[in-house]
Amino acid sequence: MEKVYTSNSREETIKLGEKLGRLLKKRDIILLYGELGSGKTVFTKGIAKGLEIEEPITSPTFTLVNEHRGRIPLYHFDLYRLDDYTALYDIGYEEYFYDEGVCAVEWPERLGPLLPKERLEVVIQKEKNEEERVILFKAFGKRYEGILKEMDQ
Ligand SMILES: Nc1ncnc2c1ncn2[C@@H]1O[C@H](COP(=O)(O)OP(=O)(O)O)[C@@H](O)[C@H]1O
Ligand SMILES: [Mg+2]
Repeated sequence: MEKVYTSNSREETIKLGEKLGRLLKKRDIILLYGELGSGKTVFTKGIAKGLEIEEPITSPTFTLVNEHRGRIPLYHFDLYRLDDYTALYDIGYEEYFYDEGVCAVEWPERLGPLLPKERLEVVIQKEKNEEERVILFKAFGKRYEGILKEMDQ
């Protein structure tokens, strides 16, 4: 199941992320695809807002994951610099993925065989207009199809 949105500004992308964030529950996994500067971190700021997280969200550059406390925890991954998915075993990624919080993952391509079967993919595409983005949601599994249905209510 898929849904397409368009955004014409950073703020609109945050709003969309916030709407999603309000619907999230523990163990939800959101994978964020898109080239550098497409808006994955901006979208994550929205998710954080929807989870009632107050502190600022910046990409985890020197660590693979940042933890934020909110309504439920947000585990924000940026795997851009991950060369080998087995390094995720060393940080105990399963404790994040299948635990008490929500995971938002930038550069999920790097997960390789650790890609979760059930997940929501958010694909952000830059358009000709500098501030325009097409944002595609793809649900894999019943839980995420349910979220997509709730998005428009
Ligand atoms: N519609 C939009 N949605 C999201 N970001 C936008 C939009 N228009 C312009 N931008 C800008 O694009 C950049 C996106 O940066 P960022 O979220 O860090 O990208 P990524 O994490 O995908 O590398 C920001 O500078 C933001 O202000
Ligand atoms: Mg980023």
